[in-house]
Amino acid sequence: MRAMKAERMLQSQGFGSRKECRALIRAGVFAVDGVVVEDPFAEFDTGALAFSVEGVEWRYREKAYVMLHKPGGYECSRKPQFHPSIFALLPQELSQRDVQCVGRLDQDSTGLLLLSDDGQFIHVWSSGRKAIPKVYELTTSDPVSDDAIAALVAGVSLHDEPAPVRAAACERLGERALRLTVTEGKYHQVKRMIGAVHNRVETLHRSAVGGLALPADLAPGAWRWLDEADLARLRAFEPLGA
Ligand code: URA
Repeated sequence: MRAMKAERMLQSQGFGSRKECRALIRAGVFAVDGVVVEDPFAEFDTGALAFSVEGVEWRYREKAYVMLHKPGGYECSRKPQFHPSIFALLPQELSQRDVQCVGRLDQDSTGLLLLSDDGQFIHVWSSGRKAIPKVYELTTSDPVSDDAIAALVAGVSLHDEPAPVRAAACERLGERALRLTVTEGKYHQVKRMIGAVHNRVETLHRSAVGGLALPADLAPGAWRWLDEADLARLRAFEPLGA
């Protein structure tokens, strides 16, 4: 059992400062199991705590793990320069928990984006160390030759990279369409790899990270919590390109 005072519990879940949470509770908008709690110092077991704030249901989560179907035209930054921030697509409570992107997608890229406030998780899943496969579906401006596919798998030279960078897998989906799997997370990696075979990416969509695929029913712009099954799927991937 992990007992926590109501105001501290709400603060940990992104509902504002301790003072703001205290005011929320005193305003009578916080309820546990349908019963309004107005005492900010009431203690709760956070284990399987379900509560509501202003009628919206929440479950206590020690750490936040989330997937977002990133739409095009959004920047993976809290201080976006030219486009809206993906954080505008999340509820304020999640943003206030200081969730961060686990590896970024470019402004014009779409697809599976993971976010968390668990520093260790972010580190492991965004560093290239673990050779985690990231699967992209892309279209190109020019037809892709068989030689280009062979070169992508064999390894291409990228500016500022000491060693050739290779795709762990590359499958043709059409004359100008590929499914490409990479295990690093280098800056503009896929676009630069396609550039290295004298072509250009027109559209780029991330469909999976590790063993976790973007669910077909998660609409662009929508997000959801990762449950234990999702986290297990994430970890269940075949080591590729080792
Ligand atoms: N590689 C890119 O070039 N862009 C992305 O958004 C992701 C991978």
